[in-house]
Amino acid sequence: MSTEIEIAPAPRAREPAVKAEPVVEAQGLTKVYGMRRAVDAIDFTVARGEAFGLLGPNGAGKSTTMRMIACRTPLTAGALSVEGLDVRRAGRAIRSMLGVVSQENNLDPDLSVRQNLLVYARYFHLPRARALTKTVELLAFIGMSERADARVEELSGGMKRRLMIARALLHEPRLLVLDEPTTGLDPQVRQEIWQRLEELRRQTGLTLIISTHYMDEAERLCDRLLIIGRGRVLAAGSPRELIAARFAHYALEVRDAGAAPLLSTTAHVRALTRAGAHLYFAATPDALMPLMKHYPAPRTFLRPANLEDVFLDIVGDTPEEGLTAHDE
Ligand SMILES: Nc1ncnc2c1ncn2[C@@H]1O[C@H](COP(=O)(O)OP(=O)(O)O)[C@@H](O)[C@H]1O
Ligand SMILES: [Mg+2]
Repeated sequence: MSTEIEIAPAPRAREPAVKAEPVVEAQGLTKVYGMRRAVDAIDFTVARGEAFGLLGPNGAGKSTTMRMIACRTPLTAGALSVEGLDVRRAGRAIRSMLGVVSQENNLDPDLSVRQNLLVYARYFHLPRARALTKTVELLAFIGMSERADARVEELSGGMKRRLMIARALLHEPRLLVLDEPTTGLDPQVRQEIWQRLEELRRQTGLTLIISTHYMDEAERLCDRLLIIGRGRVLAAGSPRELIAARFAHYALEVRDAGAAPLLSTTAHVRALTRAGAHLYFAATPDALMPLMKHYPAPRTFLRPANLEDVFLDIVGDTPEEGLTAHDE
């Protein structure tokens, strides 16, 4: 039997988030639907040029938070400003400055790709000539120039998502809000979308607010994260800070460890079980190596601790809070 012990390289440090004026400031932000506190007094700030991630299980309050930022639903209590403007008073001005990619596809299925962009450009009162130029430019950006005349219903899920992103960029917003931009897409398509978003940030310094339940997406795209559950903040920080605050850098993961108890370890090793796996965390691989001889090699992996570890540690193995029907 071959050994399958993987030693992955230590994660590289992320560059510090851009220190700049706040684009979004929330204090005690609250949204109540009937008896349900969908968002329950949360505080956060998003800085200019930053990619800010909202993580949390279904029903945590991510979409509701984003809809309040986008001035699509009023707050119940608290304070929220976008670009220095109070969402309660300046909804229209704020909406004109931000781009929104909502969780559900809401493209017009009867129109062509190009028409979808042109019709939307009218909402933002873009002059016709400008709308045409932007449409050509954005279709090239999302790699869909060839599909300009295709009807939306002929597009793949990934193309629809890319078109949603292009549409949100028509009026050159300074802030782009993306609600689960890659949910349900296959890994290759997700990678393409990440690349586009990274390019956008590099080229335009756009501020991004992204909700996701993919930890690799959050780790790759986001400078800072807010983990929420049942409308409350559970943890906040950069991906590396969150990992470092909960775990040391390396993890020894033993899948299907069965009913065997965790091995006893030194104070420098943190041990826990999760979904039938044993996990040990330590600052160096050396502290974990001795444990490996107690386990069968094929199911034992030495790897960097990651955001998934953090998320599962905070939120638990069943990241589902029960969905109720939305009456929008
Ligand atoms: N329009 C709505 N009417 C009533 N309840 C809602 C509405 N939108 C969301 N909720 C409830 O608020 C909570 C948070 O939902 P949501 O913000 O969609 O969470 P997430 O995006 O993190 O999955 C859930 O319990 C959800 O059922
Ligand atoms: Mg949602």
